[in-house]
Amino acid sequence: MIDGQPIRVGVLGCGTVGSALVHLVNDDASRLFERTGRLVEVTKVGVRNLSATRAVDLDGSVLTRDTQAMVIDPEIDIIVETIGGIEPARSLILAALRAGKPVITANKELVANCGSELFAAAAESGVDIFFEAAVAGGIPIMRALRESLAGERITKVMGIVNGTTNFILTKMTEEGAAYSEVLAEAQRLGYAEADPTADVEGFDAGAKTAIIASVAFGLNVVAGDVYQEGISRITPNDIEAAARLNHVIKLLAIAELPVSDTRRDEVAVRVHPAMVPNTHPLASVRDAFNAVFVNGEAVDDLMLYGRGAGGYPTASAMLGDLLVAAANLARGTSAGPIRLSPATIRPIDMTTSAFYLSLDVADQPGVLAAVATVFGQHEVSIRSMEQHGQGNGARITFITHAALEADVQSTLRDLRKLDAVRAVGAVIRVIGE
Ligand code: HSE
Repeated sequence: MIDGQPIRVGVLGCGTVGSALVHLVNDDASRLFERTGRLVEVTKVGVRNLSATRAVDLDGSVLTRDTQAMVIDPEIDIIVETIGGIEPARSLILAALRAGKPVITANKELVANCGSELFAAAAESGVDIFFEAAVAGGIPIMRALRESLAGERITKVMGIVNGTTNFILTKMTEEGAAYSEVLAEAQRLGYAEADPTADVEGFDAGAKTAIIASVAFGLNVVAGDVYQEGISRITPNDIEAAARLNHVIKLLAIAELPVSDTRRDEVAVRVHPAMVPNTHPLASVRDAFNAVFVNGEAVDDLMLYGRGAGGYPTASAMLGDLLVAAANLARGTSAGPIRLSPATIRPIDMTTSAFYLSLDVADQPGVLAAVATVFGQHEVSIRSMEQHGQGNGARITFITHAALEADVQSTLRDLRKLDAVRAVGAVIRVIGE
């Protein structure tokens, strides 16, 4: 690319995000020129079907089906990938990087599974790979972690990074509706996919957690390393119990260094529903919004909030990446390699949390003592206990102090063996203030 010349951009895919990005670039060319001193032009858009209806007007000469030629075309300076999935996105991105082109991608699945391969290819060519839009859409968390917090010893990142599940949990909380009803409404409104598994069972949040952990801690964490539990078993009773305790239930993505003072290669990564105190900033994140809460040793707590999905919020994150990559390219530089060290993943059994547990029990003398004995035998300390109902309808609920997951699971196994315990109901982790 010659300095002073327009930056020529090739966009792979022209769906919701791709067309929003093209629209932002084309519509705002003069403002972008004023801010950056550079003209940005979308010169090629790679698509599967040349005649499909699109949300943006494109000259026919811009469209191409030959994406393999596009990513190595010397007339294109930067590649933006919006097609999603592993292949052909992976091969196209690797070809572009090897041809010396910076790449901007929104592809969480690819970065969470093949990040180290992509980062190595970018480092070898000395070009940028940016993926701000892959995590929490329009929220600039990747740049905050990579640049603003580059000198920070980050100990924990905890976020609401899936809008679909946050929309469902918000409706369940505010309207008392059942999970299946709200899911159907979310599907009608276009928040949830026809097959909602990736969102509601935590796969989408799991991939984002792997990326967050990799960038926050410089460790090679992949999607398969992340423990996942979704929200499909959360009931109106659980939501009500949380409300009685001044908590809300949120699907949390958590990446933390469990023993950060002595080991910085061991990481705990998990996605699960949790009761969050109403006073915690994450409790106020409603509807389809996302937020990411970061704790660092010097900076202490901070939180970024915004839209985690949608064409324009996602395209906004990609446009920021595009302008930084363009400025670096013009100066013949890059943001520098992303180096990931091998990670030791702490198994979920070895993590600690406080828990909310509910048990349906026989309402007889000695039952509470028998139940409490089982907790004690497994080193699980009870913080509070309540009884609801009487006789055949008796239910006791507990909140534990922080306990080892393995000990809580052993407690539950032995509680199920007690004659007086008719059923173990909710088992929900609780986070602190
Ligand atoms: N399906 C995701 C969500 C957005 O509901 O937040 C894309 O990652």
